[in-house]
Amino acid sequence: MDLTAGIASVREEFARRLQSLQEGDAERLRIDFLGRKGLVAALFAQLGQLPKDDRPQAGSLLNALKQELEEQLGATRTGAAAPDSAGGAAVDVTLPGDPVPVGAIHPVNLVLGQIKDIFNRLGFSVYYGPEVETDFYNFGALNFQDDHPARDMQDTFYTGDNLTLRTHTSNVQIHAMENLKPPIRIIAPGRVFRNESISARSHCQFHQVEGLVIDRNVSMAELKGTLAHFVREFFGADVKSRFRASYFPFTEPSAELDIYWGLESEADYRITKGTGWLEILGCGMVHPNVLKAGGIDPHKWTGYAFGMGIERTSMLKWGVEDIRHFFDGDLRFLRQFRS
Ligand code: DAH
Repeated sequence: MDLTAGIASVREEFARRLQSLQEGDAERLRIDFLGRKGLVAALFAQLGQLPKDDRPQAGSLLNALKQELEEQLGATRTGAAAPDSAGGAAVDVTLPGDPVPVGAIHPVNLVLGQIKDIFNRLGFSVYYGPEVETDFYNFGALNFQDDHPARDMQDTFYTGDNLTLRTHTSNVQIHAMENLKPPIRIIAPGRVFRNESISARSHCQFHQVEGLVIDRNVSMAELKGTLAHFVREFFGADVKSRFRASYFPFTEPSAELDIYWGLESEADYRITKGTGWLEILGCGMVHPNVLKAGGIDPHKWTGYAFGMGIERTSMLKWGVEDIRHFFDGDLRFLRQFRS
């Protein structure tokens, strides 16, 4: 049997099919010639019948044929075939490509990434909890009394009898205590909801990052040191901040951390309620009742917690004057965060 004649006829047949190739038929052509049961494979199958000494040379002829057909097929696929006889232009592969539009990371995610980085370096891991929550996790276990005003429908969205949209990420504290074994060192980012009227300062939805540390002999000094470090890392070494004594049902003692925003323009007055300071987080030593509710023995373990508003923090970092920008989806605002 003459393999050389076989090669010549396959090559001829391929050229004929390629000439009259219709759009979308290239795959059929590939299967017929180069597929597992195609014509080239059939030629390879005949190799075995040749005398041993002739096989290497015949094999390399067949390989060359295969490569040649593959190249011709590849050229039709990328549309880079030679100009046809009707005078169609070849593609100029040296032309610059079309610009690809580049998106921006939403500032809330941008800030969240930076906050995670800072706390990761301090040994905190990230822990998530639910947005729809029972009264127990959002309030009861956090030592809110039954008549606490935050439990009022005016402040909290209720989605069912005993279900609320969480009003803060502090609910994750209890889930973490139930599911992790101390020592615990987590941050819990997420979306929270409040039944508030929308203004430049407040919104019905925003984001918080909760922090929780439970260990032996944890102190208020460690809490202050950790947060002071965070402020320096996040805002820079020369930012002015202050701790102010405060009250939360779930911490004792409690404090708030303020950052100095400035008091020069009318907007500064509006944003800081005339003080020049903007509160970014609440914090304190975890109340023994909260540890108990989370199944942790307050005689063995102590802890501290903090919760900060992400939009608040972003506003400070970039001088954004209206919290509504974060939710409006206005591209003129969002494009400024393209990196
Ligand atoms: N959950 C509080 C809020 O939404 C913030 C907060 C204050 C969280 C003190 C804490 C904390 O963990 O210890 O206003």
